[in-house]
Amino acid sequence: ESTTELDVGALEVGQSIKAIFRKQPVFVRRLTAPEIEQANATDVGELRDPQTLAERTLADHPDLLVVMGVCTHLGCVPLGAVEGENKGDYGGYFCPCHGSHYDTAARIRKGPAPLNLQVPDYSVNGTTLVIG
Ligand code: FES
Repeated sequence: ESTTELDVGALEVGQSIKAIFRKQPVFVRRLTAPEIEQANATDVGELRDPQTLAERTLADHPDLLVVMGVCTHLGCVPLGAVEGENKGDYGGYFCPCHGSHYDTAARIRKGPAPLNLQVPDYSVNGTTLVIG
């Protein structure tokens, strides 16, 4: 199957971009220090789909969050990957279809979605992000 390559060298802290991976939206965000702190300050035991930020990022790129832009409820495309969009109550992504709120690690925090936004397989080679 095909991979998606993105140059993330110019992705600024706090910036996110939306791309397409295997015909589905994928969101890439360079997390800010407060966003990382917020994710790490969360009690994982209280999460619906318990995962740490570290489990959802690469060890050598802990600030790069790569997730599928597909709500795990019924598959709408959440908001928050484009400047000015509603990021929801937890500062990550917000699905307007039925009100699912994802946090800065794209973990489900509120609303009907059962699971965190899915992290695809990916690697980073220099400034190139290779998804798939
Ligand atoms: Fe996202 Fe229902 S599809 S909340």
